[in-house]
Amino acid sequence: MKSNDERKTILDYDTVTLDEAQNAVIIIDQTLLPGRTELIALRTAQEIWDAIYLLKVRGAPAIGVTAALGIYVLSREIDTDDFRIFYGKFREYKEFLDSARPTAVNLSWALKRMERAALQAGREEKRPVAEVKEILRREAIRIREEDIEVCRKIGEYGLTLVKPGDGILTHCNAGQLATVKYGTATAPIYLGQEKGYGFKVFADETRPLLQGARLTAFELQSAGVDVTLICDNMSASVMAKGLVQAVFVGCDRVAANGDAANKIGTSVVAAVAKHYGVPVYICAPTSTIDMATPTGREIHIEERPAHEVTEMWYKERMAPEGVKVYNPAFDVTDHELISGIVTEYGVARAPYTESLRLIMNQKGKIRNEAECEPV
Ligand code: MRU
Repeated sequence: MKSNDERKTILDYDTVTLDEAQNAVIIIDQTLLPGRTELIALRTAQEIWDAIYLLKVRGAPAIGVTAALGIYVLSREIDTDDFRIFYGKFREYKEFLDSARPTAVNLSWALKRMERAALQAGREEKRPVAEVKEILRREAIRIREEDIEVCRKIGEYGLTLVKPGDGILTHCNAGQLATVKYGTATAPIYLGQEKGYGFKVFADETRPLLQGARLTAFELQSAGVDVTLICDNMSASVMAKGLVQAVFVGCDRVAANGDAANKIGTSVVAAVAKHYGVPVYICAPTSTIDMATPTGREIHIEERPAHEVTEMWYKERMAPEGVKVYNPAFDVTDHELISGIVTEYGVARAPYTESLRLIMNQKGKIRNEAECEPV
């Protein structure tokens, strides 16, 4: 970890990391950005659950990494030598953390992966609980490290879809703050920045929680990227002017047919982009692809409290007392509006039922996930 003096921008801070000495997960409290950069330590199951639910840590990959490190931290506190007792408590923690947010599949993906590691070591190989804990530590750290490699690969494949000087529109924050490094939708932008591509990025502010304004605009600006903040209802205006050559967005869950759930408003952007002939790319690590969910209709969409729409961010309430509010956190973009799904194994194209199956089969065959080859 860098010392405070060495940190120059928000990108020098770890979104989520493990502090073994404190037995805690350390995150940036993203609800305070961009005004204040504060690191907080999560030690208890309730603290981890709250941090995820309250969006102190958010973004599908970052939620998954937090859950993996979190359940390791919690498992260290389980005081028994009996694997059955250990596993019973581990399961309780797992179910609890998994209930924090329903749409981003990375949360349950990471927890299941941790559970498999525990079961293999403790039940199948009959290792002592102390060794199971050590295996969980390594698995959680691996999940975190893999996220960096996976995002970089997404960036490399994404970069092949655009040209220097292009205008890129993005929605919500699928940036470094949503991952360990690079982001997903921002990975091509950061890699392009390293190569001097001079992209012009439009960041939707992303009502109601302003992830685009508070996080994406902040981190891209900190990196020296040419970023322009727009309100959510301005995407048609910039596309009509020919200022956008591609849309890159992140994703919380991709169904087997390519329908993709992402931050509310993404499907509006995709529909507008189709009208103006602008390609829409969903940037999704394979940990976000859920082959067990056939279509977007089966994706559980999180609904959040009304006050996020009526009272947050302005000094005065923004809506009349008692008005009915509908506040879904995500929407599903129909696969027909999607030009490609950028994964760490390459860009999946329609028909997605086949291309995603191919990618997931390939993933199954590759042990070392750093050795991804294009599909
Ligand atoms: O509610 P949030 O802020 O967790 O929503 C985040 C998004 O919708 C992101 O686009 C998605 O999780 C992908 S992050 C790489």
